[in-house]
Amino acid sequence: METVNPTEPTPTRIAILGATGYGGGELLRLLLQHPRVDVVAATSRSREGMPVGHVHRNLHGWTDLAFSSPTADWIAENADIAIGAMPHGASAETLAPLVDTGQRVIDLSGDFRLRDARDYAHWYRREHPRPDLLEHAVYGCPELEGDTIATARLVASPGCFATALNLAMLPAAAAGLLRGRPQVVAMTGSSGSGAEARPTTHHPERAATLRPYKVLAHQHVPEVMQLLADAGSPVDGIDFTPVSAPIVRGILAIVSAELADPDARPEDLYREFYAESPFVKVLDDREPEVASIAGSNYVEVRARRTPDGRLHAVCAIDNLVKGAAGQAVQSLNRMIGAPEELGLTWPGMWP
Ligand SMILES: NC(=O)c1ccc[n+]([C@@H]2O[C@H](COP(=O)([O-])OP(=O)(O)OC[C@H]3O[C@@H](n4cnc5c(N)ncnc54)[C@H](OP(=O)(O)O)[C@@H]3O)[C@@H](O)[C@H]2O)c1
Repeated sequence: METVNPTEPTPTRIAILGATGYGGGELLRLLLQHPRVDVVAATSRSREGMPVGHVHRNLHGWTDLAFSSPTADWIAENADIAIGAMPHGASAETLAPLVDTGQRVIDLSGDFRLRDARDYAHWYRREHPRPDLLEHAVYGCPELEGDTIATARLVASPGCFATALNLAMLPAAAAGLLRGRPQVVAMTGSSGSGAEARPTTHHPERAATLRPYKVLAHQHVPEVMQLLADAGSPVDGIDFTPVSAPIVRGILAIVSAELADPDARPEDLYREFYAESPFVKVLDDREPEVASIAGSNYVEVRARRTPDGRLHAVCAIDNLVKGAAGQAVQSLNRMIGAPEELGLTWPGMWP
C-alpha cells in the first residue's frame, strides 16, 4: 500500500499558459524538476496534442505531458497557480478570467507591470483590457518586493531588459542616490524576441551585427522608473539604447547615472544591499559577462564611482532565466512558502 509522508507538503499544481514559446519552455525545464510542484497543463493553441518534448527538444524523456488547450474553468479547477508566458495583450485577456475566479497568477508579459493604465496605453500602444486588476498586481522583483510577493494574488514578473536595469540600479536607488536621467546601453540575445522568427530576428540578418533598436522608446523604461521610485529614487527618465547582439541568450547592461552624493561608495553599497540576495553576485575583481550566468538564475553586477562622482554599473543576466522563467520561479517559491532558491541553484555554463 502506498504510504503518505505527512511532513511532505502536497505539490502545488501549476498550469503553464503559452508553453510552446521560449519562456514557456524554460518554465517547463525548471518546473519539471522542481520538488514542490506538479505541472498539470502546458497550453498551446497551435500544438494541441503534441508531446512537450517534440517542441522543447531538451525535455525529451522528461515528461509525458502533451500540449493542451483547456478552458479557463478547467484550469481554475485543476491548477493552484497559473503562469502565463504569452504575448502582452493576449496575456491579460487569458489571465484575467482566472484572476477573477480567485486563482493565483504569475504573468511573464508586460500587461500587469505598470500601475497606471495610461502608461500602459502609451508604451504598449493599446488600451489595457482590465485596468481594474492593475492595483492588485505585485511587481515580481524578489530583491525588493519579497514579502508582498509571498501573499500576492497576481504577480507581474519583470521584463528581461528591465531585470538587468533594475538590478544594475536598485541599491543606488534604495539609498536615495539616483537622480536625473540615467544613461543605459544594454545588449540582448535573440531568444529575447521569442520563438517566432521575424525579419529582425532572422539569423542571417542579426548573426554578424550589433543593431540598436527602439532607441529611447523601449517599453521596459516605465517599469524600471516605477521600481526606482518605489525603492526611493524617482528619476526624470532613462535614456535607454537596447542593442540586438549576435548571441542567443543573455543581456549585458551598462549604466551611467548621476549620484546625489558624489562621494558615495557604490562598491560597498551594492555588496551590502545584495548580501541576502541568493542570486546576485557582486563582483569586484572582474567584469560581469553573459557566458558565466547563461542557463542559470544568477546575476553578475559590478558598480563603481567614476572620477567625476557618477555611478557606473554593469549587470549580466540570462534573459530567459533570471529575466523570465527563473525570476518567476523565485516568486512562485515565495508564494508557496518554499525557500526562494528551491529548484534554481546551479551555476551557469562555462565556456
Ligand atoms: N523571451 C524572453 O527573453 C522574455 C523575457 C521576459 C519576458 N518575456 C515575455 O514573456 C512572454 C512570452 O515570451 P516568449 O519569448 O516565450 O514568446 P514566444 O516564444 O513567442 O511564445 C509565446 C507563447 O504564447 C502563445 N501565444 C501566442 N499568441 C497567443 C495568443 N494570442 N493567445 C494565447 N497564446 C498565445 C504561443 O503558443 P501558441 O501560438 O501555440 O498558442 C507561445 O506558446 C511575452 O509577453 C514576453 O514579452 C519574454
